[in-house]
Amino acid sequence: MSGFTGDWLAAREPADLRARNADVRAAFRDHLGETLQTRANRPLTVLDLGAGTGATMRALAPHLGMPVRWRLAEHDPALIALARDLARRDGFEAEVVEADLSQGVSGGLLDGVDAVTTSAFLDLVSADWLDELARTLRRAGLPFLAMLTYDGRQSLDPEHPFDETVRAAMAAHQGGDKGFGAALGPAAHAHAAASFRMQGYRVVDGLSDWRALPEETVFQTLLVEGWAQAARETGAGADEIDNWLALRLAQVADARLVARVGHRDLAALPG
Ligand SMILES: C[S@@+](CC[C@H](N)C(=O)[O-])C[C@H]1O[C@@H](n2cnc3c(N)ncnc32)[C@H](O)[C@@H]1O
Repeated sequence: MSGFTGDWLAAREPADLRARNADVRAAFRDHLGETLQTRANRPLTVLDLGAGTGATMRALAPHLGMPVRWRLAEHDPALIALARDLARRDGFEAEVVEADLSQGVSGGLLDGVDAVTTSAFLDLVSADWLDELARTLRRAGLPFLAMLTYDGRQSLDPEHPFDETVRAAMAAHQGGDKGFGAALGPAAHAHAAASFRMQGYRVVDGLSDWRALPEETVFQTLLVEGWAQAARETGAGADEIDNWLALRLAQVADARLVARVGHRDLAALPG
């Protein structure tokens, strides 16, 4: 189990959709378009890492404008089952592969692949893991699109004096081991950009911040509860956390809260 539930992934999907960076996506799509021409227009195969229920595929497919077969790599059996159901429901040509990526992206997963994507995943991995991914994709000559990498910024409107304690706790929590060694957390995007540039890639990047809508009460409830839990795990004062959370949940219930979270997208394109 990864700790990411289908309910959480479903609640965040609309905010993810609004946040994804159109310029970065267009750079990736244009590169894929050039690849398609060299393949006599046969469908391309895109591998998505840490696919969850398939949100990357659902978000990206309508913008690609070309035939794509998807290979979704995920290790959580419950999410794999959901991803298969949703892909069938939506008529995607998708193979959902049970794969533990903690030791890297194995050769088999890359067989026949034309591009690699991921969403909300890079902040979980370690520096060594990411460097190895860049080397692996360079050897295979593959482009990479990483969306929605958490960058450490987060805020709530209206503000509260305890917000900064929660934000710092959340950023620290992001650095814990998520199965890949010490996670890069908020440093992941900058590390990925440097690592792919070192391999000779052209990197196009930009912001993909979440801005929750006041009426997204399920999403914001799960969000502030998750932040409070992270603050508890990093040893912040229990009473202050409880008071902060009670206030935030009341504001969510009244549709008076707007959460913002900093993310970044990155397309790494081989020359
Ligand atoms: C924040 S979720 C993002 C899911 C999906 N990409 C999305 O945008 O909705 C991170 C995903 O990475 C998966 N994951 C975590 N560790 C993994 C591992 N070792 N191997 C494969 N997948 C993993 C989780 O199960 C989860 O689905």
